Amino acid sequence: MKTLTVDLGDRSYPIFIGQGLLNQAELVKPYVKGSQVLIVSNTTVAPLYMAQAKQAFAGFDVQEVILPDGEEYKNLETLDMIFAAALKHRFDRKCTFVALGGGVIGDMTGFAAAAYQRGVNFIQMPTTLLAQVDSSVGGKTGVNHPLGKNMIGAFHQPQCVVIDTLTLNTLADRELSAGLAEVIKYGLIQDAPFFAWLEQNLPGLVKKQPDLIVEAIERSCQCKADVVASDEKESGVRAHLNLGHTFGHAIEAGMGYGNWLHGEGVSAGTMQAVYLSRLLGDLTQADQDRIQAIFEQANLPVLPPSQSALPNQTYLDLMAGDKKSQAGKIRFVLLKAIGQAYVTGDYPAELLTQTLNEWRATA
Ligand code: NAD
Ligand code: GLY
Repeated sequence: MKTLTVDLGDRSYPIFIGQGLLNQAELVKPYVKGSQVLIVSNTTVAPLYMAQAKQAFAGFDVQEVILPDGEEYKNLETLDMIFAAALKHRFDRKCTFVALGGGVIGDMTGFAAAAYQRGVNFIQMPTTLLAQVDSSVGGKTGVNHPLGKNMIGAFHQPQCVVIDTLTLNTLADRELSAGLAEVIKYGLIQDAPFFAWLEQNLPGLVKKQPDLIVEAIERSCQCKADVVASDEKESGVRAHLNLGHTFGHAIEAGMGYGNWLHGEGVSAGTMQAVYLSRLLGDLTQADQDRIQAIFEQANLPVLPPSQSALPNQTYLDLMAGDKKSQAGKIRFVLLKAIGQAYVTGDYPAELLTQTLNEWRATA
């Protein structure tokens, strides 16, 4: 087992990465303060892993709540199922919520933990690659609103993150690819050698080769932990983690939550950020081709929806609501080079229009 640390002073916490960790009681025991544990999962993950997770909390008063599965249920209405379960079982302020599932369960459970009785502890047990490399670390929690993705939420850090890589054995290939989008992101924003390593190892990663998967998770979690430790509340460098997300979130919301996976939106969205970066004279055509090739190797979409499915004006309206927008100006994470991201609202509007028009038409 490998242990990384998210260094946040007295709120620091470990990320445990290894095989067969899900039922390890000794691992999680120090991070449960009271006697009550509420495990939150969904209709897909619970039949696979709830029994193992319950073993990890043997000896505690363990209750469970099973949510419907899907991004379309990541909303305030479903969130209430968690509060209702906690209240029904008379959970007190010392209780611990446990997120057992992908990023949707992690974000919702974390937000419920942030709000229940003004804040209780929670533990992340991520079971998708995306959640293991990104969403379970860093304390961003929340739900979607019909008018914008992840618009209702809170920063609330977990007590620990338990990554059992064996859970990936049951994960669908499309979901694995979606997770690889966020892995590739770390290389693009701050780690050119990692990007080059991924170019070499993508075929093995797509086949879930265990040693490569573990290395990709460790390197991704280390990148994320470093960024979160230096900018927990996103006043600076943390925004780089949103490469491709301004375009991607608009695709997710515009196409109806659940139709495009988050990682798929990030992939097609990143290609648009890359295209705009090339139009601005920072990336070369060769860089763009390299980045397109790696997403394609990961079986991810590089093109956003067509103009008829997502017209430019709808696209722009959705992006205008992005959390990075300032004074009505859409701000993007762009690349100076592979491994070097920056945030800007200072770009010619016609280059954004050109990106929205040309990339879908010509790629
Ligand atoms: P998800 O949670 O919807 O999981 C994907 C699918 O895989 C679901 O159907 C789920 O039930 C299923 N599943 C989960 N684990 C499984 C397993 N081991 N075996 C078989 N099936 C399994 O999607 P996701 O990609 O994990 O997460 C996407 C969400 O994460 C989005 O809502 C996104 O906004 C959020 N996110 C948050 C952050 C953050 O920092 N908080 C970062 C990135 C993404
Ligand atoms: N996934 C973006 C962040 O954690 O900041």
